[in-house]
This record gives sequence, C-alpha cells and structure tokens, in this order.
Amino acid sequence: MNYFVRRPWDLPQRLVTPEDVYRQRKLHRREFLTWLGLATGVVGLSTGCSDSGGEKTSSQSPATSSPEVPESVPNIYPAARNPNFKDYGRAETEPEDAARYTNFYEFSTSKSTYKFVANFKPTPWAIEIGGLCDRPGKFDLDDLHKQMSFEERACRHRCVETWAMCVPWTGFPLRDLLKRVEPKAEAKYVGFTTFDRPDEATNMARTQGDFPWPYTEGLTIAEATNELAFIATGIYGKPLPKQHGAPIRLVLPWKYGFKSIKSIVQITLTDKPPATFWNTVNPAEYDFEANVNPTISHPRWSQRTEWMLGTRERHDTVIYNGYGEYVASMYKS
Ligand code: MTE
Repeated sequence: MNYFVRRPWDLPQRLVTPEDVYRQRKLHRREFLTWLGLATGVVGLSTGCSDSGGEKTSSQSPATSSPEVPESVPNIYPAARNPNFKDYGRAETEPEDAARYTNFYEFSTSKSTYKFVANFKPTPWAIEIGGLCDRPGKFDLDDLHKQMSFEERACRHRCVETWAMCVPWTGFPLRDLLKRVEPKAEAKYVGFTTFDRPDEATNMARTQGDFPWPYTEGLTIAEATNELAFIATGIYGKPLPKQHGAPIRLVLPWKYGFKSIKSIVQITLTDKPPATFWNTVNPAEYDFEANVNPTISHPRWSQRTEWMLGTRERHDTVIYNGYGEYVASMYKS
C-alpha cells in the first residue's frame, strides 16, 4: 500500500468538519498533523500538547500503575543494576513526570496517553521472531521472564521533540533475544512491529487508512546487536505501565525516542531496510537512522538543546545522547 503525506489543502472532508460537529476528533487530528508538520499549528509541540477530552479514560488507576503479572511468572523486580549503566550524569526523572508525559499515538495524540489505555490488554503476550534466521519462533512473554537474564539500566532518553528524561529500565539486551533465533549471515536489518488492535486503541481506530498502522521500526543488524540496544519489560523497578509500552518495548538511548518502539509483537530479520512508521509518513522529517545529533536540526526546530520532564531544566544536546563510546564506531563512514 502506498502512503503519501497530505498537504493541508488535501485534507479529506471529515478532517475539516466544523468544530461544533467533530470538535474532539478535530483536536486530536490537529495535534497529530502539527506533529507531522502538516498543519499550520495552533498547538505547540514541545511546549505541551493539550489533553484532549472526550475519550474513554481510566480515572481509577494512577498514571504509574502497572498491569497485573500472572502469578506463575517469576518476580524479577527489582533486578540488579548493570554497573555500566549505574547512573545518568543527571537527576532521575520522577516516575509521575515520566508516566504523565508519554507518546503512544495508537491511543492518543496528547501526552496524557495514560488516560486512554484502559481497553488495552497487555496479557497474555508473545513475540513472533522470523525472517532470515535458522530458528524462527513465537516467544511467550511469561517464558521469557523465566529464561532471560534481567538487569536494570539507568538510561537517558531523548525525544525528537526536544524533551528528555532519565529513567531506570528493567529488561535484557536485544542481542540475547536475537541469538535465540540464530540470524543468518544475510540478515542485515531487524524490523519491529507493534500490535494492530484498533478495538483496543482509540487513535489507531480513528486514523485507520490515514496512517500506516501498525507502528513499525527498524535497525541495522549492527545496531540491534550493539550492547546498548535493550528490550524493556519494566521501568522504575516495576512492570511497564501500559502507556510506557507494556508489556515489552525497545530502548535505544542513543537514538531519538520514536525508534524505541512500544508493545512489540513481531521482530523480523531482513536483508533490506524495513519500512518504518514515521519515516513512511514524513521521510523529510524522520530518517531511518535518527541518531541524537545537536548539529542536525529538525526541519522545524533546533536540536541544540533539550528540556527535562518534570523540572524543565535545559541541557545542551550531546551527540549520540552521550553514548558515543558504545555506538560511534558503527557510524564512522
Ligand atoms: N511506539 C509505538 N508503538 N507508538 C508510539 O507512538 N512513540 C515513540 C516511542 N515508541 C511510540 C512508540 C516516541 S515518539 C517516543 S519519544 C517514545 O516512544 C516515548 O516513550 P515514553 O512515552 O515511554 O517516554
């Protein structure tokens, strides 16, 4: 299927329906389109998208609550912290500040996605791994909890929108999972796919046909097997709250946050770069590599500085988000 980026004057009629008729819908779309650079925005991007009303919310549970984990699954929390990722060089972000300001477009274009995840069912869960490998298979998350060696890592996270956070993730290196399927020598890339369940994700349902759902991402095989590429099932010593990508997500601290795909259901080894969500929607603004780099401006804003969730403290952006010792050698050419 071909997706193209609509110009504002190409918007279908239902996107320009008068506000008194489709106010909620229009607000969501407008924020989304502004993020994409497709609307003459009234909504500031990194200055805080407004919380859109009108969607079903889960008001009972606090933003930081984790989904139930079956009793049969070993409690791996808290996992021992990997001494190589002991601290951030900055203050840790408060859990509430991270949990209340998230990007998860399947649910909402606002940052308060925790209000819109009530219908999402992160258990049971399995990841299918296939493509160019000798032992493809379906990996049940409960089994992975028993089989993988879990650790905690304190990591900086930098969103392309210029906000940043410092959070401890629990999980295991992506390469430990890939090893289990025995990638073939021809496997040069790794593609990732999020769930496709519009019945559980309101914004995905609302924007069917307009965006290339499900959300996808990709890495080169060198990036995917780098020590820094991490699969997380937890944050702040607890299973991931839904809005942070329950029950399993990627964490790539040297890349802009959109590469760290949430709620993964499929991993595919390929010999060609896989199509990725934001790069498909707007290739001029979101490249495949997407390494944090203060010298390459986003077409609509500078990347020279970043601001921390919660404190709003500003810092200079650092190349590879400060993780050059792990990753710079992959980009020498
Ligand atoms: N994964 C999916 N499936 N859908 C998304 O919308 N947003 C990305 C990334 N992973 C996104 C996603 C973006 S833009 C960022 S910055 C990070 O998730 C944010 O992670 P956090 O919300 O847990 O802080």
